[in-house]
Amino acid sequence: MKFFLDTGNIDEIKRISRLGLVDGVTTNPSLIAKEGRDFKEVIQGICSIVSGPVSAEVIGTKAEDMLKEAYEIAEWAPNVVIKVPMTEDGLYACHELTKKGIKTNVTLIFSAAQGLMAAKAGATYVSPFVGRLDDIGVEGMKLIRELKQILENYGMTSEIIAASIRNIKHVEDAAIAGAHIATIPGSLLPSLWKHPLTDSGIERFLADWEKVPQAAKSQA
Ligand code: E4P
Repeated sequence: MKFFLDTGNIDEIKRISRLGLVDGVTTNPSLIAKEGRDFKEVIQGICSIVSGPVSAEVIGTKAEDMLKEAYEIAEWAPNVVIKVPMTEDGLYACHELTKKGIKTNVTLIFSAAQGLMAAKAGATYVSPFVGRLDDIGVEGMKLIRELKQILENYGMTSEIIAASIRNIKHVEDAAIAGAHIATIPGSLLPSLWKHPLTDSGIERFLADWEKVPQAAKSQA
């Protein structure tokens, strides 16, 4: 499974990239707004750290506006992916961009039918939002399983990005369901490598090591 970081924060990306865990980055207008910096500067900064795909979202709601923004954003870095919303205009923009060889990520997918439409339009990535479905009492992970099955049934090449990930279980279940990618908030990802028994295990090993006579330690 590939891990994308769902953040616009350069420090988080730098910290976690050092571990070889970052295959790409997704951003959205809310994440960019949190950084309080110029959009282009943030995206180019991320692209200079991460060689994998970096999603940057268009703001326009009409296809012609989306495409205008997309062509400009696509010039910012070779690994930029254009994120478009799951609307009729978004699908058209996705299809046009795909024809021109520009990679796309169709975002805000909440049903298997929407995912299928995005894949048909040629999306490189489809982003079903797990957490936001859970928030309204609908099992988000079911959508990942259904979409995976549908794409496999027809040999469709779009990759599923399990998005709106809120906890470790979401990541584990998305991996079990076979999502190609999980995009994970920078604040959540460190909890994937942590476990209280690991911490207490280290403490106990260190305490026991203190009991070893100095002479024996130096021979180790
Ligand atoms: C994905 O590309 C989105 O940026 C993201 O996963 C949204 O997550 P949220 O529902 O926590 O805002």
